[in-house]
Amino acid sequence: MIGRASKKISILGSTGSIGRSTLDIVRNHPDRLKVVALAAHNNWQELLKQIEEFKPLMVALYSEEAAEKLRYALGPRSDLELRTGMEGLLEVASLAEADTLLSAMVGSIGLQPVLEAIEAGKKICLANKETLVVGGELVMAAAQKCEIPIIPVDSENSAIFQCLGEDDLRFVDRLILTASGGPFRERPTTTLDTVTPAEALRHPNWEMGGKITIDSATLMNKGLEVIEAHWLFNVDYDRISVVVHPQSIVHSMIEFTDGSILAQMGLPDMRLPIQYALSFPERWLASCKRTDLTALGMLNFEPPRFDAFPCLKLAYEAGRRGGNLPCLMNAANEVAVDSFLKGRLSFSAIPKVIKETTARLPFSKKVSLASLLADDDSARCEATAMVNRGFGAEPPPTAAASSQKEGARALSRHAK
Ligand SMILES: NC(=O)c1ccc[n+]([C@@H]2O[C@H](COP(=O)([O-])OP(=O)(O)OC[C@H]3O[C@@H](n4cnc5c(N)ncnc54)[C@H](OP(=O)(O)O)[C@@H]3O)[C@@H](O)[C@H]2O)c1
Repeated sequence: MIGRASKKISILGSTGSIGRSTLDIVRNHPDRLKVVALAAHNNWQELLKQIEEFKPLMVALYSEEAAEKLRYALGPRSDLELRTGMEGLLEVASLAEADTLLSAMVGSIGLQPVLEAIEAGKKICLANKETLVVGGELVMAAAQKCEIPIIPVDSENSAIFQCLGEDDLRFVDRLILTASGGPFRERPTTTLDTVTPAEALRHPNWEMGGKITIDSATLMNKGLEVIEAHWLFNVDYDRISVVVHPQSIVHSMIEFTDGSILAQMGLPDMRLPIQYALSFPERWLASCKRTDLTALGMLNFEPPRFDAFPCLKLAYEAGRRGGNLPCLMNAANEVAVDSFLKGRLSFSAIPKVIKETTARLPFSKKVSLASLLADDDSARCEATAMVNRGFGAEPPPTAAASSQKEGARALSRHAK
């Protein structure tokens, strides 16, 4: 029967916010979705629960140490295939029994497994936006060569994907990505230096992992999505704009040449775009609450504050120049965000570390997987050394200590 054939999915990052929401969708649609492989980094306890519930054929933990604990907990009689390290992620990504990979790891670590899955002929549902930011050129070329669809999971790019439908790109004037504006949308620029991790982790609309929540607060998240949109839809940066929409109901829009604008709307719940990526080209019964339009009240739109949040401009610049620059920018951002969460860098120093790191490393227009991995590494080393030297504005000493604790607490709250 059409639509009832079960899709066999592997999930990278199954213990994270997107991973868990994906498993919720599997629970809601057991006749349509079957989990065949799962992977995470450290969280073997959560993975163990997932193994018991979903009975995958293979799992991977990036950390050898965590894998050892999981192996012990599974017991000697378990016949589950357990893998570790990058090799393990690649095996999960290309497992013969799977037809679809949902990539929901955080960071540039997601690039290689996605390339591997494309080569193995898997349909890609992509939440890990860093994959396209770092290796968009390679990934899209591989997907085209292997005739593999890349379906966005990110709510904004899913909205664009849904609005575009079969429409011809010739008639699209611009893509309009919406941004909530994050928790500091209205905060005076002069006070941004004193932002603590706990404040930055308090996103007004979305429950997400720690890294993306900080990216949302700096607007780097929108910058990463702009680059992702460029690769997904093959649209110039001049035709991708960002508008702040504090309610996060309109997930993004496209404007056609005749001035008509199409928007995709819904409550801010990632289960909707995740489910659409899995069900595409079909639509299945909702896994989340439906939108009551009469209860929404006002929907507002305003321009982003480019000067207060320099990361958005940095991402546009990196995207426009292309080559290895988005890779360098992304790696520096990953280090800067991690340092901020640990209380070692102030909020306002995040864009400074990115700018300085990318300025110090050589630009190259031509990229390969090997060159990108090397650039990712160099940028991490450069940014880490910068933070260690105390680059940029220091967080106030007392705030640093307390914000580290608050940050850790808030992180565990967010990584549900
Ligand atoms: N959350 C959202 O609403 C949302 C929306 C749109 C796009 N995204 C994108 O989706 C991705 C995931 O976001 P998230 O919020 O779900 O992040 P998260 O809650 O922090 O989860 C990250 C996941 O990645 C795993 N992971 C990290 N490093 C790994 C490694 N080296 N090897 C294997 N697994 C690794 C983590 O495993 P452990 O738990 O073991 O550490 C965890 O399962 C990000 O790229 C984000 O930008 C997220």
